[in-house]
Amino acid sequence: MADANGLFVSFEGGEGAGKSTQIRRLAERLRERGHDVLVTREPGGSPGAEAARHVLLSGAAETFGTRMEAILFAAARNDHVEEVIRPALARGTIVLCDRFMDSSRVYQGVTGNLESDYIEALQRIAVNGVVPDCTLILDIPAEVGLGRARRRASAVAAPDRFEKEEMQTHEKRREAFLDIAVREPDRCHVIDAQRPEDDIAAEIAGIVDQRLRAANIASARSEAAQ
Ligand code: TYD
Repeated sequence: MADANGLFVSFEGGEGAGKSTQIRRLAERLRERGHDVLVTREPGGSPGAEAARHVLLSGAAETFGTRMEAILFAAARNDHVEEVIRPALARGTIVLCDRFMDSSRVYQGVTGNLESDYIEALQRIAVNGVVPDCTLILDIPAEVGLGRARRRASAVAAPDRFEKEEMQTHEKRREAFLDIAVREPDRCHVIDAQRPEDDIAAEIAGIVDQRLRAANIASARSEAAQ
């Protein structure tokens, strides 16, 4: 990644794939090893983007069409990148982001039926050069993920604008995330998220350790030991 010393890891996947749990576990592991870690999410992650999050997830923008929603996601992303992610990477922080540009490609592009040229043009402006070093795609059949997400939603809150959609749409998104992984194998890793939580966490830890070594990022603790 240009101009940066940190590592940018994004987590992607459908609903109920266990992203939040795995992000929390990875963050704990990295912090225990002395790394500076920032956990953030999209849409949101900066004050401007959190304001857009409310508009997007409540469904308030839905009546204005998918194009309007895609632009709002991009506006939120650009604010998040410039205000939070880029400065954190420049400080050498490991940034763990719950969803990023691939979610727009999948939700707005593929299942929102927007042309890929349009989405890619928005993404260029939104990320402005800040592309994840590594993207972990937590893959789970739509039926399993949705079942989990619905149990959680009924216990906590009503499903958001995007969770309400049909099973077929969720399966299409799963395929779309897998397609991105095929197109960008250097950046993306597909993780089978149907396995026990500990196994998934171990696989993710291995991938991220390897990325840290490749980027030559040592933790504060290992530097002190040298
Ligand atoms: P969130 O409550 O963060 O849920 P999840 O656990 O599924 O990540 O909701 C984010 C929702 O916004 C989710 O349904 C996916 C959708 N989304 C998009 O449609 N496009 C995007 O670019 C992003 C970042 C999210």
